[in-house]
Amino acid sequence: MSKLTDSVRSEVVRRVSNSGQSVAHRFDHIERVMQNALAIAATIEGVDYEILQLAVLLHDVEQPAGKKAEHVELSLRAAEEILKQAACPDEKASKVLRVIGEHSSEHVRTIQPSTDEAKILFDADKLDGLSAVGIARVFALFGQMDLPPLQAIEWYKQKIDIALQYIQTAEGRRLCNSRLPYVQQFLSQLESEARISEDIWSS
Ligand SMILES: [Fe+2]
Ligand SMILES: [Fe+2]
Repeated sequence: MSKLTDSVRSEVVRRVSNSGQSVAHRFDHIERVMQNALAIAATIEGVDYEILQLAVLLHDVEQPAGKKAEHVELSLRAAEEILKQAACPDEKASKVLRVIGEHSSEHVRTIQPSTDEAKILFDADKLDGLSAVGIARVFALFGQMDLPPLQAIEWYKQKIDIALQYIQTAEGRRLCNSRLPYVQQFLSQLESEARISEDIWSS
C-alpha cells in the first residue's frame, strides 16, 4: 500500500465510523470489497493497483443511512477533498474519481464502468451483497432506517437482479454464481415463512 493510500485509508476509517453513516457501508464493507477487488484484479492484466485501492477506499465514504440515491455524488465530493488533503496529483485523483463515479448499481443503466479498475470495483462491491454478510447488511440497514425487515426483500431482490445483469468481469461472474444459490435459498425460505395464509382470519 502506498503512502498516499495509507493516509487516505486513515481518513476513510475516521469518516465512516459515525452513527449517521449507513451501517452497511462502514469500514468492514470497504475491507471486504478490497479483498474481492484484489481477487478479481489478480485475474486481469495491467490493473493500476493504486487507482483501484484508492477508489475502493473512497467509493462509499459518505453514505448516510437512507441516502442511497445521493451517495455517489456525496462520496465523490468527499473523495475529492480527501485526495487533495493527501496531496494526490490531479491526474491520479481524476482517474480515481472516475472509477468511483461508475460504481453504483443505482446508476448503472446510464453510467457503466469504463475502465478495468471501474469494472473490478463494480463487481467487488456487488459481491459484498451476495453472501451471508450481504444478507445481514440489508436487514441491518433497514433497521437503521426504521423500516420493517420484510420490506427489505423486494429491494434486495432487485439489487441482486441488477448485479447479475451488469456484472462486468469473468471472475466477478464466477464468484457471483458460486454465492448465489445460498442467497436465493435464504430468500425463498424467508418468503415462505413470511407468507401469512388467508385462512388464519377465517377460523
Ligand atoms: Fe456505493
Ligand atoms: Fe460499496
